[in-house]
Amino acid sequence: MNGIINALHGKPDSEPPIWLMRQAGRYLPEYRALRKKIPTFMELCFHEDYATEITLQPLRRFEFDAAILFSDILVIPHVLGQTVHFIEKQGPVLSSLDDPHFFDKAKDVNLKQSLETPLKILRNVRKVLPSTKAVFGFAGSPWTIATYMLEQGKSTDFKKITNLLEIKSSLFIQTMALLEESVGTFLIAQIEAGADVIQIFDTWAKVVPKAHQENWIVAPIRRIITRIRIDYPDTPIIYYGRGVCDLYRQIIKGFSNVAFGVDETVPISVMKNQIQKLASIQGNLSPQVLLEGGVQMKKNVEALLQAFRGSPYVFNLGHGIVPQTPVDHVAQLVDLVKGGFQK
Ligand code: CP3
Repeated sequence: MNGIINALHGKPDSEPPIWLMRQAGRYLPEYRALRKKIPTFMELCFHEDYATEITLQPLRRFEFDAAILFSDILVIPHVLGQTVHFIEKQGPVLSSLDDPHFFDKAKDVNLKQSLETPLKILRNVRKVLPSTKAVFGFAGSPWTIATYMLEQGKSTDFKKITNLLEIKSSLFIQTMALLEESVGTFLIAQIEAGADVIQIFDTWAKVVPKAHQENWIVAPIRRIITRIRIDYPDTPIIYYGRGVCDLYRQIIKGFSNVAFGVDETVPISVMKNQIQKLASIQGNLSPQVLLEGGVQMKKNVEALLQAFRGSPYVFNLGHGIVPQTPVDHVAQLVDLVKGGFQK
C-alpha cells in the first residue's frame, strides 16, 4: 500500500508521505528541455510520450510518494471548443465565448474521447510505477475553470465573472452547468484509467461572494462527489479550496474518503483543531519558504512534522511550486520529511 492512500483513508504511517503541487514543471531542467521541443504548452499536454515522461520526471529525482498527471485544468475548455493559448510571462489567454452555438457544439463533444490522451498517460504511468507510488488525477473546480473561460484568462479583479454571477446571466449559468458535467465525467474517466486519488483544484474559490458560496462552490462540488461515489465509494478525493477552509464542514457532510488541501495562510492550530477533525489533510508549506530554503524552511517543515507526524496528513505545499525554486531546496525538503537528516 501507499503512504498517501493510507493517510487519506485515515490510517497514517509513522512518517508523513509527500508530493508537491506542480511537482512536474519549470523548476526542473529536464522539464524545460522537453518543453522546448514542442511549440505550445497545450500540444505538450496532448503529447503522449512527453507528457508521460514529464509526469514521471519528479519521481526519478525525488522520493515522492505520488505522481500527478501532467496536464492542465484548461484542457477541458480546450476540448469543449474554446481556444486556449499559453503566453510566456502572461499565462493562459482564451478566445471569447460569443459564438451563439458554443454551448450546443460543446454538448456534442465526447469528452472521454477528446481527452483520451491524458487518460492514456494515466494508464501508462499507473503501469510503470510500483504500487507503493500513488497516481493522482485531477481537474479544476467548475468555478475556477469558469473564471478562466469567462475572463478569457487569468484575471486580477474577476469583475466580469462576479458581475455575470450577480445578474444571474445565462452565460454564467450555462458555463457552470457544462463544467460540472464535464469535470465529473473527466474525473470518473481518470479513476477508470487508473488514478488512485483525485484532486479538485479550486484556486479561485475565495473570489465567490459569501452569499453565493453555497450555490456556486459547495453544491457543485458536492454533486460531483456524489456522482463519483456511485461507482467509486472508496477512491480518495482531495478538495483544494484556496482561501475557503471555512466551507469544508459543509462540503464533507455525509461523505467519506474526502480530504482537504490547505493553503499556506491557514495556521497549524486551525489545521489541527478544525480541519483535521473533519478529514485527512494535505499541504500548507509556503511555496515562498521552499523558494528561499535554508533555516526558515527547516523550521517550518519541522513545525508541520511535529504537529502532524503519525496523523492523517500528506505533506505538500499550500500552492504550486514556483518556477524559480532551486532543485536543491526540493531535495532538502524531501530529506527533511523522510527523516534523511537524522539518518
Ligand atoms: O502539478 C503538476 O505537476 C501537474 C501539472 C499541472 C499543471 N497545471 C501544469 C502547468 C497542474 C495540476 C496544473 C493545475 C492548474 N493549472 C491550476 C490549479 C493549481 C494552481 O496552480 O493554482 C491552474 C489555476 C492552472 C491554470 C494555469 N496553467 C495557469 C494560470 C498557467 C500559467 C501560469 C503558470 O503557472 O505558468 C498554467 C501553465 C502551466 N500549467 C504550466 C505547467 C507546467 C507552465 C507552462 C509552461 O511550461 O510553459
